[in-house]
Amino acid sequence: MTSLSIKKLPDSILRKKTIKVGSVGALEKKILTDMAETMYISQGVGLAATQVGLDRQIAVIDIGNGLIKMINPVIIKKEGSDIQDEGCLSVPGVSVKVKRARKVIVTYMDENGETVQMEAEGLLARAIQHELDHLSGKLIIDYLGPVKKMLIKRRSSKNA
Ligand code: CO
Repeated sequence: MTSLSIKKLPDSILRKKTIKVGSVGALEKKILTDMAETMYISQGVGLAATQVGLDRQIAVIDIGNGLIKMINPVIIKKEGSDIQDEGCLSVPGVSVKVKRARKVIVTYMDENGETVQMEAEGLLARAIQHELDHLSGKLIIDYLGPVKKMLIKRRSSKNA
């Protein structure tokens, strides 16, 4: 296992729209393992491929009850809504109130190439939506108003 370095704002990879994975092989399995390791070391509840510099539709999630490895995830149903504070390993020190669906149904390919359909709610549903945002280049600061967003951008470019 290898711990990868996490890309932070304003790294442009974080804004990339990711490419679908064609099939799961040894490389994809290694990426999933390394991403999980990186997530645990960083004490995050999820990590998307763009956060480690890869523009592929790969994400890992563990909200404390088991590791989920997702390839090409797609949300096929959303229900309800809920507003909670969210942080992101790529936007350190920032907490944003984000409105998300309370319940989702997601389909994805697991590390064996099998299609999985999963229903999730609460924190898990939130984590899934957060990671899927990453896979289309979206970050939590995009949920802020323009002034707050500008201040955070300015602060992160100074630190870069
Ligand atoms: Co994030």
